[in-house]
Amino acid sequence: MIPLTLTVNGTTYTVNVEPNRTLVDILRDVLGLTGTKKSCNEGECGACTVLMDGKPVASCLVLAPDAQNRSITTIEGLADGEALHPLQESFVKNGGIQCGFCTPGMIMSAKALLDENPDPTTLQVRTAISGNLCRCTGYQQIVDSVIAAAKMMRGG
Ligand code: FES
Ligand code: FES
Repeated sequence: MIPLTLTVNGTTYTVNVEPNRTLVDILRDVLGLTGTKKSCNEGECGACTVLMDGKPVASCLVLAPDAQNRSITTIEGLADGEALHPLQESFVKNGGIQCGFCTPGMIMSAKALLDENPDPTTLQVRTAISGNLCRCTGYQQIVDSVIAAAKMMRGG
């Protein structure tokens, strides 16, 4: 076991974990933050996407030592109390959620994009979410949701 200190959604935790545990398992099983989903467990589906120091990563590929002293943002960190983040609101409104399994990872990839580029093109949205697989929506509603959220966040 190794002691691991990391900050998740603004709260700093120190936990003892096996060094071969992955960040997705630490978030879900150790910290109880089950909003982040785990599916392929090999970096292919994007369901486990979180932000690490602001950049999107597949948390199933991040080993515990690599998360040391990092700042992690998960889907649980987006809402402001009862108020959904504009991306969450927009996914609900625009049909970007069907079964919802891909949604946390999709939204974290979209957030990373909008943090850097508040007015992305459709192509830039498609590129940003290209590592996130969705079995349900055909992607158009997801792209529409991100574009609508961007507009909302620009005050439009
Ligand atoms: S569970 Fe991590 S990419 Fe699929
Ligand atoms: S909404 Fe079902 S996998 Fe995307």
